[in-house]
Amino acid sequence: MEKLRNLIGKEVEEAFEKNGYERKYGKVTLSNRPDLCEYQCNGAMAAAREYKCAPFMISDKIAESLRENPMFESAESVKPGFLNLKLDTEYLAGYLRGMAADTERLGCETCRDPKTIMIDYGGPNVAKPLHVGHLRSAIIGESIKRIGRFMGHTMIGDVHLGDWGLQMGLIITELKERKPELVYFKEDYTGEYPKEAPFTISELEEIYPTASAKSKEDEAFKEAAMQATYELQHGRQGYEALLSHILNVSVSDLKRNYENLNVSFELWKGESDAQPYIPDMVQKMKDDGYAYISEGALVVDVKEDSDTKEIPPCMILKSDGASLYNTTDLATIVWRMQDYHPDEIIYVVDKRQELYFTQVFRCAKKTGLVEPETGLKFLGFGTMNGKDGKPFKTREGGVMRLEYLVNEINEEMYKKISDNHTVQEEEGRRTARIVALSAIKYGDLSNQAAKDYIFDVERFTSFEGNTGPYILYTIVRIKSILKKYQAEKTLPESAQILAAHSDSEKALMLEISKFNSMMESAFMDTAPHKVCAYIYDLANAFNHFYHETKILAEPDETVQAGYICLLWLTKRALEICIDVLGFEAPDKM
Ligand code: ARG
Repeated sequence: MEKLRNLIGKEVEEAFEKNGYERKYGKVTLSNRPDLCEYQCNGAMAAAREYKCAPFMISDKIAESLRENPMFESAESVKPGFLNLKLDTEYLAGYLRGMAADTERLGCETCRDPKTIMIDYGGPNVAKPLHVGHLRSAIIGESIKRIGRFMGHTMIGDVHLGDWGLQMGLIITELKERKPELVYFKEDYTGEYPKEAPFTISELEEIYPTASAKSKEDEAFKEAAMQATYELQHGRQGYEALLSHILNVSVSDLKRNYENLNVSFELWKGESDAQPYIPDMVQKMKDDGYAYISEGALVVDVKEDSDTKEIPPCMILKSDGASLYNTTDLATIVWRMQDYHPDEIIYVVDKRQELYFTQVFRCAKKTGLVEPETGLKFLGFGTMNGKDGKPFKTREGGVMRLEYLVNEINEEMYKKISDNHTVQEEEGRRTARIVALSAIKYGDLSNQAAKDYIFDVERFTSFEGNTGPYILYTIVRIKSILKKYQAEKTLPESAQILAAHSDSEKALMLEISKFNSMMESAFMDTAPHKVCAYIYDLANAFNHFYHETKILAEPDETVQAGYICLLWLTKRALEICIDVLGFEAPDKM
């Protein structure tokens, strides 16, 4: 369906034209004074300059023309030259009927030229448990992927595991000290390696921090770990076998954790998957004259004339020939282009890595790893802080494991739910998990991604205010009214959304009608917070309508059936939105 604002715009443009002015002045926007009108046009102000007359002379004429137009309930010209518009209630109802007829998409058209977009998010490091620092990338990335998919694009999520750095060498070295007898360490071993990993996930999670701490104190241990990393990266078989054990054990644990967050990835590739592409890529950068040796390291210049701050060269290989974080990211671009040929790659990563990605993107463009028109977009997010305004920590001051955080919120939610009414333990726990996830995700997504925000458990889990649970509560309320209605009656075939009977009903209808333009702009701006803002306004408008209207006690059957259709549409819009945000609503709470 055409966006409502455009439909209105067309009428206003025509009125300008009919009165002898250029169409371009008829641009319409949502009103910034909702107490006075619903839509507005300020074009007469600009037109007055061209036509050399007082603005209100123009706005008067336009208002006059629009008054005859059935689209508007009122069109007012206000000095010095504004046009204040209110939509006709029947026209608005017709628009909503059009939305409701398209039960899947509510009239939101998919994009005309669908793209293949890869989205790099999650970014956990294997052998280390997920901690709160990984939460934002997972939540924001998942939502952007879903919004893109709703708009008709092919979205491919890649977790991009950190599985290739010194941490691997540290684990191998520590394991060697503990169990030197394992075949992985025998240099002349040529047989098969065991299928079973020589450690469990909890052992692995203990091995890594121990090794990491050791390397800071024990120089020899660190040397050994660096040597092991080098050997792993140069194809030592036993170490490769260990790496794949580490990966398997880690990845199944990560999958379980992401599943609990309703986050999933199409691809489980990691930095290590980029390794085979490095030699050719580097060779080509040298052959083409882009890469040169500077202070022993191989670099590519990426500064541009228009830079206002210094952008250092992108380092491709260290002086000892070892690859870096940059190298893997560039080589990852190589296989992504080769295998998927994306139109765009979006990186959802901590905003502190912005300069780094500027270097990587410029280097990829300059050296031709991507095409000139391939989009490379960095979506940097801010820090999740505690109530003290500092990065979120456990009570003891350590880094909070994601799993513990989620459990804590689940527990909190369960307490609230079981305090409210009696529930069966099992059902209550299930509901608590659903609501808790909405609290976490909405709490994050309702902020602009780039901003830091305060993770406030009390506020996020509240059933009132701008929170996930409030949105779910609204959906549950609608579900319960619909259920009660259905228990008594069947909705007549002829039932349909009717012209609003009250201001609160019209206000609700106006909120609903913004669905398609909101979704489009949330995608264009990679901005899930716009979806949150929409559902918050929508939930408020619904609850206001609900408090002012007797829905189940409405005596006129036709009017009542109209309300039911409107409720259904409200619920559907809310449900599509929370689905793209990555959570769902329970039936009761
Ligand atoms: N593993 C990295 C980290 O913990 C994040 C990866 C982000 N993605 C990328 N393509 N570099 O910082």
